[in-house]
Amino acid sequence: MKTLSVPLLLILYFFLIFCNPITRVHSSSDGDYYDDDEVQCKAWLVQSIPTDMPHLSLVPGVLSTADVFRWLAGNSSRSLDIIAQYWQLIAHPQDPRSGDYGYSKDDMLRFGANDGLEVYRELENAADRDVNIRLLQHSGVYPDYTEEPSKLALGRPNVKSVTLLLKEWWGSGVVHAKVWISDNRDVYIGSANNDWKSLTQVKELGIYLVGCPRIAEEVKIYYDNLWKLAHLNSSAYTKQVSDQQWQTTRKVPCWSHFLHRKERCRSPLPKYLEVKHVTGYPVLSDPDTFNVSIETPGLNYSSSHTQSSYLSFAPPELLFGQYQTDEQAWVDTIKSVGKGETVRISTMDWLGQSQYTSQTLYWSSLSSAISEVVFSKNAKVKLLVAYWAHFINSTDQYLKSLLYTNNLCASSKYNNCYGKVEIKYYLVPGFNLTGPSTINNTATKNIYPGYTRVNHGKYAVSDVRAHIGTSNLIWDYFYTTAGVSFGTYNPAIVSKLQKIFDTDWNSPYVQSVQPLEESRAFSS
Ligand SMILES: *[C@@H]1O[C@H](CO)[C@@H](O)[C@H](O)[C@H]1NC(C)=O
Ligand SMILES: *[C@@H]1O[C@H](CO)[C@@H](O)[C@H](O)[C@H]1NC(C)=O
Ligand SMILES: *[C@@H]1O[C@H](CO)[C@@H](O)[C@H](O)[C@H]1NC(C)=O
Ligand SMILES: *[C@@H]1O[C@H](CO)[C@@H](O)[C@H](O)[C@H]1NC(C)=O
Ligand SMILES: *[C@@H]1O[C@H](CO)[C@@H](O)[C@H](O)[C@H]1NC(C)=O
Ligand SMILES: *[C@@H]1O[C@H](CO)[C@@H](O)[C@H](O)[C@H]1NC(C)=O
Ligand SMILES: *[C@@H]1O[C@H](CO)[C@@H](O)[C@H](O)[C@H]1NC(C)=O
Repeated sequence: MKTLSVPLLLILYFFLIFCNPITRVHSSSDGDYYDDDEVQCKAWLVQSIPTDMPHLSLVPGVLSTADVFRWLAGNSSRSLDIIAQYWQLIAHPQDPRSGDYGYSKDDMLRFGANDGLEVYRELENAADRDVNIRLLQHSGVYPDYTEEPSKLALGRPNVKSVTLLLKEWWGSGVVHAKVWISDNRDVYIGSANNDWKSLTQVKELGIYLVGCPRIAEEVKIYYDNLWKLAHLNSSAYTKQVSDQQWQTTRKVPCWSHFLHRKERCRSPLPKYLEVKHVTGYPVLSDPDTFNVSIETPGLNYSSSHTQSSYLSFAPPELLFGQYQTDEQAWVDTIKSVGKGETVRISTMDWLGQSQYTSQTLYWSSLSSAISEVVFSKNAKVKLLVAYWAHFINSTDQYLKSLLYTNNLCASSKYNNCYGKVEIKYYLVPGFNLTGPSTINNTATKNIYPGYTRVNHGKYAVSDVRAHIGTSNLIWDYFYTTAGVSFGTYNPAIVSKLQKIFDTDWNSPYVQSVQPLEESRAFSS
C-alpha cells in the first residue's frame, strides 16, 4: 500500500490543528477564551468506597478516585496544579510513628495501599515528562509532613512545591481544598486527600471535569492567589479586625472587606474587586455563574441545553469580590429546594460553632437555612453525618438542636408546617478498630490503619441543584480555611448525586440520630 507523502501529511496535520472545532480557541481583549458551543465539557461524579462494605451497592457511571487521580497525572502534557492539605500517597507500615504501622504486606495489599503508590508513580512520570507541576499544601501531617511533594520537586526545576500556612494570614485555619487541574482543562474537586487511605479506606465524593477550560481557568485564578499568598510576607499584609458579624477580634489579610476602607490595603492579588466596608461578608444576589453544556457520559439524559454552574471559594478574602463565598453556595443550595421537595446533605463533621478559634464563635448559617426551608417550603431535609474514631463529641447536641425544628414546626395548630428534618449517623464498619496494629511491640486490637473508615464526602443536593465541596461544616472552614466547591443545576448530575446519597442513606451502615427527650417543663 502506498503511504501518504510528507507534504500531504503536513497539510493534513495543519488542517487538523487549525480547523478542529474541538480545539478552536478565540482571542479577545481579555486574552484567550474557549467558545462553549464548541467545547463539550464532560463531567463524572467520583467516589472512593472503603473495602469491606459489601452491602453498599455501586451507583453505575461513577468513577473511582484512584483512576481519576492517575488519569489527571497521566494525561497532563503541559501543566499540573495540585492543592492538597497533606500527602501520604505512599503507605508506611514499617514506620512506628505511622498509623499504618505493624500491618503486613498482605494486609496493605488488602487495604488497597497500592493505588496510592500508583498515583505517586504517575506523578513522578509526569514530572519526568517535563510537565510544569505546582504542588501547594499545608505543612502536612505527622509523620510525613511535606516529604512527598518535596521529593517530587527535588532536583526537578519543572516541579515547584510550596507550603502555605493560613494561620499566618487568618490566625487559624489550613489549606483544606483538594483540587487537581491538568493542562488547564481537566479538573478534580472533592473530598479526597492525596493520601492512599482516601482511595480505598475513606469514603470520598468529588467531581471530575474533562475538557472544561473555562471552569479550569476560574479555579486557576483561585490557585494563583493561594500561590501568591505563599510567596508574600504575611506580617506585612495582615491586620487585626474587630469583626462585627462574628463578634470577635481576629487576624485577616489587610484587604479584607471586614476592615474599614480607610484601614484597608491595596490587594496584592490580581482580579480583586473593591467593595464598601461591610459587617460580615456580602451575600451576592447575582453570583458569577457560567453556562456550560456538560455532557454526562453513561447517563440517560440528553444534554442539548446548557445549565448554569458555579464555583465558590473560602476564605472570603480570596474571592476578589466577584465570586460567591463557599458558605453562600451551601446556603443557596439548601434554599434552592422546591416546595415539598427534599434536600440531601452528606458531611463528615457538623458543628454549629467554630472549632479552632481562641474565642469560640456560634455559627447557625446552615442550620437556620435548613429550619427555614422546613417551615417555608415544607421541605424534607435528610442529613448524613459521619460517626468515627475522631468524632467531635458536641456534634450530637447540635444535631439534636436541629432536630428540634420538627417540634417547632408542629408546635402550634396554627402552624402550616409539614416539613421535616431527618438525621442519620454513618458508621463505616471497623471505624472503632483503627490505628497502628502494633504499639511499643504490643499488638493492638486494631484491624485498620489510623484515620480510616469514615464517610468524608461533603455535598448537598436539592431537587434542582448539586453542590460538591471540600469543606467540613464548621465555621472555620468558611472563614479561615481554604476550600473550593463546584455546583450545578445539571439535571443528570443532580439525579446521580441523589442516587449516591440514597444508596448510603438506605444502607445498613446508618443509625438515626435520636431527638431530645420531650421536656416536661411546660406541663404542670
Ligand atoms: C486520560 O483520561 C481518560 C479519561 O478521562 C482515561 O480514559 C485515560 O486512560 C487517561 N490516559 C492516561 C494516559 O492516563
Ligand atoms: C516581613 O514584614 C515585617 C513587617 O513589615 C518585617 O518586619 C519583616 O522583616 C519581614 N520579613 C521578611 C522575611 O521579609
Ligand atoms: C444561562 O442559562 C440560563 C438557563 O438556561 C439562563 O436563564 C441564563 O440567562 C443564562 N445566563 C447567561 C449568562 O447566559
Ligand atoms: C431513559 O429514560 C426514559 C425515561 O425515564 C426511559 O423511558 C428510557 O427507556 C431510558 N432509556 C435508556 C436507554 O435507559
Ligand atoms: C469524647 O467522648 C469520649 C467518650 O465519652 C471521651 O473518651 C473523649 O475524651 C471525649 N473527647 C472530647 C474531646 O471531649
Ligand atoms: C464498634 O462499633 C460496633 C458498631 O457500633 C459495635 O457493635 C462494637 O461493639 C464496637 N467495638 C468496640 C471494640 O468498641
Ligand atoms: C511507647 O513507649 C515509650 C517509651 O517507653 C513511651 O514514651 C510512649 O508513650 C509509648 N507509646 C505509646 C503509644 O504508648
